[in-house]
Amino acid sequence: MAESAEIILDGKSYPYPVIEGTEHEKAIDIAKLRDQTGYITIDSGYKNTGATKSAITFLDGEEGILRYRGYPIEQLAENSSFMEVAYLLIYGKLPTQAELDDFSHQITKHTLVHEDVRKIFDGFPSAAHPMAILSSLICSLTAFYPESVSPDLSKEEIDLNVIRLMAKMPTIAAWTYKNNMGHPLNYPRNDLDYCSNFLYMMFSFPTEKYEINPKVVSALNKLLILHADHEQNCSTSTVRLVGSANASLYGSVSAGINALWGPLHGGANQEVLEMLQAIQADGGDTAKWVEKAKDKASGFRLMGFGHRVYKNFDPRAKIIKKAADEVLTALGIEDPLLKIAQELEQAALTDPYFVERKLYPNVDFYSGIIYRAIGIPTEMFTVMFALGRLPGWIAQWKEMRENKEPIGRPRQIYTGELERDYVSIEKR
Ligand code: MLT
Repeated sequence: MAESAEIILDGKSYPYPVIEGTEHEKAIDIAKLRDQTGYITIDSGYKNTGATKSAITFLDGEEGILRYRGYPIEQLAENSSFMEVAYLLIYGKLPTQAELDDFSHQITKHTLVHEDVRKIFDGFPSAAHPMAILSSLICSLTAFYPESVSPDLSKEEIDLNVIRLMAKMPTIAAWTYKNNMGHPLNYPRNDLDYCSNFLYMMFSFPTEKYEINPKVVSALNKLLILHADHEQNCSTSTVRLVGSANASLYGSVSAGINALWGPLHGGANQEVLEMLQAIQADGGDTAKWVEKAKDKASGFRLMGFGHRVYKNFDPRAKIIKKAADEVLTALGIEDPLLKIAQELEQAALTDPYFVERKLYPNVDFYSGIIYRAIGIPTEMFTVMFALGRLPGWIAQWKEMRENKEPIGRPRQIYTGELERDYVSIEKR
C-alpha cells in the first residue's frame, strides 16, 4: 500500500499522499490541505518545505553530498570545464564535443553588449557596489530584448535568451569593476575561452599586454563549477518565484542577484575576507576571536562557518580548501590571511563549541582566499559567485517554465489588528 500521512483536525482524519524522489527523500503532499481543512502549514524560513520537484541538483546535507544531474561535484571539479557544467545543468546531459563546441561558439558570438549599456554606466556613482550595477544591468537586458518578456517563447527563443545571458554576464560583471576603478572598459575577446576572456576584461589595459596565467584560469574554472548550482537556496528560489509570474529570464536572474548579494547568502564571501582582515589588523590573535565568537554578548559572529543545510562538511569547502593551497603554492603567494584562516579552521574543527554546533567552514570561507590570490578585489567576490551561479539560475528558471509551474503565492497567518473604523486625522 502506498505510504500516506494522516492529519487529524477537530477529530477528523485527512490522509495525504507521501511522494518520494529518486534519492528516496520523502515529502508529504499537502496540496489539498487548505481546500479540505481550511488550515495551512507555517514554516518560517521554509526549512521543511519543498517548493518544487527538481531534477537538477541533489544535495544531502547530512552526508555532505552534492551532485549536478547525478554527477558528483568532486568529479566535475576535477575533470570538467565551467562551459561543460553549464551545459550539463541547463540541458540535463553532458555534451558531446560537437554540442560543447556549438554551445561555446554561440556564447562567444553574443559577448558584446549594446553600446547603450556602456552609457548606463555613466549614470552610476563611481563608488557604487558592483552587485548593484550588475543586477540593474542584467535587468536592463529586458529593455534591450523586449520580446524576452513574452510568456509564449519557443524553445529556440528561450535558448537565445539563455545564450545571451551566459555571454553578456561576464562582460557586464567585468565592466562593473572597471567602472569602479575608473579604467577604460575592455571589449570581450572572442578568441578566448569563457574564463580567460573574463580575466582579460577584468585585468587588461589598452596600454600594455596582458598575459593570461593558465593556473589562474584553471582556479577560476573550478570556483565557478563549485558555485554553479545549489538546489533551492535563497537566490535560486527567488529566481523561480519571480519567474513563476512569467517574468523574463533577465528580470528573474536580476532578482536572484539581489538575493545573492545579502550577507547571509552570497555576500558572506566578502564578509569572510573583511573579517580576516579585521583579525589581522587587530594583531592576528585568532584564539581571542574564537573566544569572542563563543561569547554571544560580544555580538561577533565567525563568518563562513556553518550552513543551513550541511550538517556535515560542505563538500565544496573541501575541494576549495585544497584548491586554495594549490593556487597559493602555484602562484608563489604567501598570504598571512590564509594563515589566519587556517588557524580559525583548526579551532573550529577541534573546539567542542563549534563541533557540537556543527559549525564547519563552508564554501565562502575559502573562496575569498583564492579570489584574493588571483587578484579579484573583495567587492567583486559576490559578483564572482553570481557568475558561477548563473547556469544554475538559468537551469532552474527553465525547468520551472518547462514544467509549467503555477505562480508562487504563499499564504500567511495574519497577526494584525481586528477590523476597526477609520479615525480622521484631527481626532488621532
Ligand atoms: C549556496 O551555495 O547557495 C549557499 O551555500 C546557500 C544555500 O545553499 O543555502
